[in-house]
Amino acid sequence: MDDIKKIEQELDKDIKEVNNKDKLEELKNKYMSKKGLITQLNSKIKDIELDKKAEFGKLVNELKTKFNTFYDEKNEYYLQEILNTKLEKEKVDITLSNYNIPTGAPSILEKTIEEIEELFISMGYDVVDGPEIELDKYNFEMLNIPKGHPARDAQDTFYIDGDTLLLRSQTSPVQVRCMLEGEGHVPIRIICPGKTYRRDDDDATHSHQFMQIEGLIVDKNISLSDLKGTMDVIMKKIFGEKTQTRFRPSYYPFTEPSVEVDVSCFSCGGKGCSLCKHSGWLTIAGAGVVNPHVLEMSGYDPKVWSGFAFGFGAERVAMLKYNISDIRTFYNTDLRSLKDFDRVEE
Ligand code: DAH
Repeated sequence: MDDIKKIEQELDKDIKEVNNKDKLEELKNKYMSKKGLITQLNSKIKDIELDKKAEFGKLVNELKTKFNTFYDEKNEYYLQEILNTKLEKEKVDITLSNYNIPTGAPSILEKTIEEIEELFISMGYDVVDGPEIELDKYNFEMLNIPKGHPARDAQDTFYIDGDTLLLRSQTSPVQVRCMLEGEGHVPIRIICPGKTYRRDDDDATHSHQFMQIEGLIVDKNISLSDLKGTMDVIMKKIFGEKTQTRFRPSYYPFTEPSVEVDVSCFSCGGKGCSLCKHSGWLTIAGAGVVNPHVLEMSGYDPKVWSGFAFGFGAERVAMLKYNISDIRTFYNTDLRSLKDFDRVEE
């Protein structure tokens, strides 16, 4: 019994000195290992007189419980402390401010062209491509614009080698290229968005490089009314369901008759405003019924085949739709204009 008391007093003293996990484990070793002080008390039970055995056993158990209670509580505390220190060490400071990396945005011009492509695709058209370096023959001759024709003057052209190779001044040569693929490819139903070039001085509405969207249909029994119906549907889709279309007589060497396609001003609804210069109408496209001579030059019998064609400026559509007043906005490298486009998208 005295031994138990002594050990308990020693334990009380030792407990006061435990101030970390290592010391706690040392304590466990000293009292509870195989040769530990408390463990050894157990082996003494057999030597105790019979009437004292029960009390001795009880006291040893109490001592054991005292130790275990202390150990479990402290152990839990130190484990938590170790974990906290580890977490503290591994902490990532997410409050550090990041660099402001500007992200890209699709250009409004690109977006406009893609939207128009989707509209025509949904109507069964194919989107085709043509070269930007073109033959005079396709850009002019086979579109019924021979050398010396006044229509050439309107398209001041960049020639590359004298007078045969040029930077295309319109996307219309793609019409010729499609037709030359032959009757095996009829009916033709294509649009061709692409870059065009003219020796224009750049200003708010002119650029030496701009985008056109060309369209061509060649089939049997195509008439001006098909062109009108198609333009009406497309313009409503681009500018809104309330949009009305108007067709004014015009002249292009490759179409006969030729028209100018106007839409009612979507900004004022046709009443007249600064956007439509108080006319109520905005001119969007040139178009017409394919000139029989153009069909013939590409090998189509105009008695069998007919078609319509149209062409419009992609920048003009984007400028009107998104209220952009200067065509150069599309081609400068000022990130602020992209930001403006971003805002438009919101
Ligand atoms: N190529 C013409 C231009 O640049 C636009 C055009 C008008 C295209 C009438 C056409 C068309 O296909 O039928 O001014």
